[in-house]
Amino acid sequence: MSKLSVISGKLSEDIAKRLSKKLKANLVKSEVRIFPDGESKITLSGNISKRKSIVVQSIYPPVDTNLVQALSLISKAKEVSSKVTAVIPYMGYARQDREFLPGEIVTMKVLGKLFKAAGASKIITVDIHSMVGLKHFNMKSKNVTAIPDLVKYFKKLSLKNPLIVSPDQGGKDRAKEFAKEFDSEYISLEKKRDRKTGKVQIKTKNTDKVADRDLILVDDMISTGESIIKATQFLKKQKCKRVYVACTHALLMNDAEKKIRKAGVTKIVCTNTIPSKTSIVDVSNTIAQAIM
Ligand code: R5P
Repeated sequence: MSKLSVISGKLSEDIAKRLSKKLKANLVKSEVRIFPDGESKITLSGNISKRKSIVVQSIYPPVDTNLVQALSLISKAKEVSSKVTAVIPYMGYARQDREFLPGEIVTMKVLGKLFKAAGASKIITVDIHSMVGLKHFNMKSKNVTAIPDLVKYFKKLSLKNPLIVSPDQGGKDRAKEFAKEFDSEYISLEKKRDRKTGKVQIKTKNTDKVADRDLILVDDMISTGESIIKATQFLKKQKCKRVYVACTHALLMNDAEKKIRKAGVTKIVCTNTIPSKTSIVDVSNTIAQAIM
């Protein structure tokens, strides 16, 4: 038996399978049955290594169900393996990493405790919303970026005088990194989100940077699509050419994809941290490098 096993959560089968091949590890598959009351019943098949296990499970909607599944997989792995690494390609709850409004509970703090109690000794994420989130995990942690993988995809397209755009100031460094790899310029817009209603507004007034250029809007995740839609509407008014979207996590809630296309986006390119029609860039190589 291999010294390493990759335990595949039901939601991350693609990445887990690719990882097990790259790491020459034993693949342990899981089957999940959801009971009528919403409980998950997980059954594993395959041998778990006594030395080390890698549990792979993204925590996307339904977030709480999938979180419990991730914790259950970690707990089972720890019953057999002396070391357990949790690979969480998409980390749900990562936006709840601090108290924005008085009285808010910092759920990432709770997740940190739960992962530790379940038996994880290391956590690996991909483009986590902010590094603040990982500070709540009292264990070894590593966040890898999918930007080089996304850039590789965009290098194959022929774009007109491309410019990288972040829809908000929080994503400035991400856009900067993309632009550096892509060898182009970048700008970041001013976005305001109402913390109570979730409504998004672009506050940037005008920019002379975008006219007649193809743009790549870079973000960590698309949830409702509001950030991308509002940014695209603004950029179109500024007479840009085509708008592309490069994004790591395709949550795409409530018809977001349709609404984004309607706003005039030419192509949405996301990674396989969350499966969707737009998840066309594989990040398993990047994750494997972080494990090796
Ligand atoms: C916000 O700071 C994030 O980087 C994303 O821009 C945001 O979470 C995307 O959410 P939505 O698609 O709902 O605007």
